[in-house]
Amino acid sequence: MKPHCFVKTVFILACFALVIYACDSSHAHGVAGDSQFDSTRLWVGWNKYHIPERDSMARYGHELIANTSYYLGPKGIVAQITNGMNCQNCHLNGGTLPWGNNYGAVASMYPQFRARSGGLETIVKRISDCMERSLNADKAIDSNSKEMRSIIAYMNWLGDGIPKGRAPKGTGIMNIPYLDRAADPQKGQAVYVSKCQRCHGADGHGQKKTDGLYEYPPLWGENSYNTAAGLYRLSRFAGYVKHNMPFGEVEYHNPQLTDEEAWDVAAFVNSQPRPSKIFKEDWPDISKKPVDHPFGPYADGFTEEQHKYGPFQPIIEARKKQKK
Ligand code: HEC
Ligand code: HEC
Repeated sequence: MKPHCFVKTVFILACFALVIYACDSSHAHGVAGDSQFDSTRLWVGWNKYHIPERDSMARYGHELIANTSYYLGPKGIVAQITNGMNCQNCHLNGGTLPWGNNYGAVASMYPQFRARSGGLETIVKRISDCMERSLNADKAIDSNSKEMRSIIAYMNWLGDGIPKGRAPKGTGIMNIPYLDRAADPQKGQAVYVSKCQRCHGADGHGQKKTDGLYEYPPLWGENSYNTAAGLYRLSRFAGYVKHNMPFGEVEYHNPQLTDEEAWDVAAFVNSQPRPSKIFKEDWPDISKKPVDHPFGPYADGFTEEQHKYGPFQPIIEARKKQKK
């Protein structure tokens, strides 16, 4: 190609890109309907700069997700009920990052039946769950509070345009394959030291800024998530960490950890001390417990140890046989 041709081609391509971009943003939020929904396209959430000024509820909702501790933490200006972590520590970029445990499917998929409670769960129930487990609050904020309503307004705003009952691609946590051995806390410790410790600390307690809020959130200890939280299940931790940590260096498409390293570091972190909490009403049908739910009783005869660390494949096989 002659140089001037090349320049022309680049110019034309750039014009194309601009037109496509302009068309795309004219699906402004709220306009996108059923016909435009494409479940094979990775969902990338709207960021806070897109929330209209007038939508003060959604704006405040985003604030609460990003800076939960400032509002609801140990020295919270609204209430002092949570452990000092932010929702965003685990729901990255305000719950908008592909495979960063995002909120893309919340508005469209709730209320939904969930086996943990054995019933139909509303968004309020699901948010309260994370507050009482991941943020270790004794009791979540009231369902009628401005805070709860604002968080829901934000999630509804995020999910605008996604048809009811459909989940976009890239929401939640990406699963990684099971190992054919038990996850090994000792091997995981080595991963922790080389890949995690510089931010989360040698004692796993995270690091605070001078204002007392966390710069790096704790992975264990009294201010971390409790034993009833989702991340206490090894598969959730491993899937989240492999596709998101070390923070700022990794996204889902360029992980640094192998599957083995992710499972092992999950085993190490989740064998350290943390607040213990038991919800007696969880899993009314014990046969529905996920294979990596580390607390019995079970319908399948495997130990708590194996349900915590694996290997999980034999449990899956045994359950299949039971069903036959
Ligand atoms: C310590 C980590 C952690 C923190 C902090 C946390 N969550 Fe979660 N959250 C999770 C995990 C893990 C899941 C389940 C993800 C899965 O299994 O796919 C989850 C799921 C959810 C869901 C359901 C998403 C869906 O698509 O079904 C909502 C809603 C939610 N969290 C809201 C919140 C809110 C609001 C806060 C802050 C008050 C919060 N979370 C704080 C870890 C956390
Ligand atoms: C460069 C610093 C850095 C490194 C290295 C790093 N993280 Fe993180 N991690 C963070 C930050 C910052 C957050 C919170 C992100 C936010 O709030 O936006 C976080 C959040 C987390 C969370 C969810 C919140 C919590 O405290 O439970 C887990 C789990 C986690 N990291 C595990 C790990 C593991 C395991 C490694 C090593 C493989 C690791 N991180 C390496 C900075 C780091």
